This record gives sequence, C-alpha cells and structure tokens, in this order.
Amino acid sequence: MKKNMKRILACIFIIIMTVVSVVGCGQTVKENDVEEEESDAIRIGFSMDSFLIERWQRDRDLFVSKAQELGAEVNVQNANGEVSKQISQIEYFIEKKMDVIVIVAIDGEGLTEVVGKAKKAGIKVIAYDRLILNADVDLYITFDNEKVGTLMGEYLRETLGDEGTIICINGSPTDNNVTLVSGGFKKALEGSDIKIDRTGYADNWLAEVGFDFVSGYLAEDKVPDGIMCGNDDIATQVVKALSENRLAGQVYVTGQDADLVACQRIVEGTQYMTVYKPLELLAQRAAEMAVAMAKGEMPETGSTIHDGTYDVPLEKLDPVAVTKENMDEVIIGKYHQKNDVYLNVQG
Ligand code: BGC
Repeated sequence: MKKNMKRILACIFIIIMTVVSVVGCGQTVKENDVEEEESDAIRIGFSMDSFLIERWQRDRDLFVSKAQELGAEVNVQNANGEVSKQISQIEYFIEKKMDVIVIVAIDGEGLTEVVGKAKKAGIKVIAYDRLILNADVDLYITFDNEKVGTLMGEYLRETLGDEGTIICINGSPTDNNVTLVSGGFKKALEGSDIKIDRTGYADNWLAEVGFDFVSGYLAEDKVPDGIMCGNDDIATQVVKALSENRLAGQVYVTGQDADLVACQRIVEGTQYMTVYKPLELLAQRAAEMAVAMAKGEMPETGSTIHDGTYDVPLEKLDPVAVTKENMDEVIIGKYHQKNDVYLNVQG
C-alpha cells in the first residue's frame, strides 16, 4: 500500500512538473516575442541573393556595420540563388514586423507580389543594387548600371580603334541590371564598325556558362578581338577557356566588380578592364537611408526610375573603369592591397 502510494505521489509530481515546464516554456516564447515587438531598436531584414560572388560579402558587412552604428539591428538571410527561398525569407520578415526590408533580388520580376504584401503591412522596402519590377519599392539604390556597360563599350571602342569582332557573355537574364548593362554597352558601340558576333547569358550568374560559350566559339576556328563579360566571375571562366587555347592575353576581355582575381589578371595582362563600384558608398548610404525610412523620413534622391508600372525613387552611384594604367590610383589601398593585386607580377 505504502509503496503504491509513493508511486502515485511520484507520478503526480512528474505530471505537475511537466505541466509547469510546458506552460513555462510557452510563457518564455511569448515574452520573447513581446520583447521583440516592444524593442526600441530599428529592425532591418536584409535578403540577399547569394554570397558566391566576392562583392556580396563586402556589401553585407558594410551594410550591417553602418546600420548597427546607427542603432539598428539587421537580420541577414541568404537565399542561395533560389527565388522561392527568397520569397519565404521576405515573408518571414513581414511576419516579424521588420521596419524595413532590403532586397538583392534574384529575379526582378519574381518578387512583385511579396513586396506588395510587405508594403501593405506598412513595411518600407528597398531594392538594393537590383531593381524589382512593377513593385513600387520605396527606394532603389544602385550604381549606374547603364554606365557600367558604357564604360566597357567605350574601352573596347578605344582599344580596337572602332572596328573588330567581339562576343558578349552577359549575366542572368532575370537580373534587371543585365538589361541595363547590355543596353549601355550596345549604345556605346553605336556608330562604330565593331560587330557583336554572338551573345550569351549565364543563367543565375553561373560563371561556367562563360567557359562553354567561349570554348564553343573558339572551336569554330574563330577568335574574337574582344569579349565583354557580365562580371569578373564570368571573366575568370572566359580567360580559362582562352588559356586552354593559348589565347590568354590576346583577346581584350572586360568585366565588372574589380574582384581580386580580376585585378591580378589585369596587372598580369590576361584581362584588360573591369568596372569598380565603390561598395562602401552603396552599402553605407543604403543603411543610412533604411534607418531614416524606419524613422518615417524619406531622404531626397533627386531622380526616379520606371519599374515597368511605377516611377520609384532612385539613388544612383557612379562606377569607375579600371585598367592596368589606373589600378594603383583607383584600387590599391582602397579596395585591395598592393601585395595581393601584384602577387604574381615580378618587381
Ligand atoms: C551586380 C554585379 C554582380 C552580379 C552577380 C549584378 O546584379 O550588379 O555586381 O557581379 O549581380 O552577383
């Protein structure tokens, strides 16, 4: 009897403890939620495409540290190149009632609806570097992408003396920047005798496409005078294809981003030009504007851009052409260190 009684009491004790701890857990979660919502800090959600390309880690670090300096908290999510993942990350930010959502869009046309949801929930949305189409974002902050293309076109025009044959391997067709860069590039060639013999696109910015594109072209026993690459990552693969055909250094290759390997190639002579985009200015300005917008202020931008349906405020920064000649002046000490850029070059 006594034994049974003890057992019964022990069971009752366990049941009570379990109930207390479950209720307790529930309360903790709730308290946390309430705490999060009542916190005074400005909360920013930053949804990024991926970190495969060198520049995006810099963008993230610069943005986060500036935003923190201004008293904001930043939740960074990486969509790894998947549009559906990016949409659910933005939905998560909406659920969490972020003050501002900043987006590096994988697909310019794929986020219209979810941006609409965010705006309906009273959240400010900033398109970072890449425009989101038909979405009426509160701000689009970027570099002048058309000028990126213009700089590449002007460089090839100058070096080729206004004539010759080139091929173009652009980035992802779902990235609106690609349309702008390519537009600026073609415009810069207008009136010259430079012929674009073939154009390709690297879906999802997959650089390996550049290798196949150039290898295929060379296999037809044709050698272009120049190759316009959507970015330096693609240029890496393009130069690899040229090297395998003993042509590295003999074709004018251009890119953008001033990636370290591209700057190394430029001083070594296997790539001729890249476009430097001062990320510090972009990321820090975006963080300042995000914090201002969270406080209910709308900073002046001076211009707008048509997103297909709406004119949205545009903040546009200037890109800079980089060649061997101005590498030291533009890049060294500002974006890369001299030892790193000249690593493989004697003297
Ligand atoms: C950016 C480039 C970048 C590319 C791939 C483009 O939208 O403008 O700087 O290299 O995306 O990530």
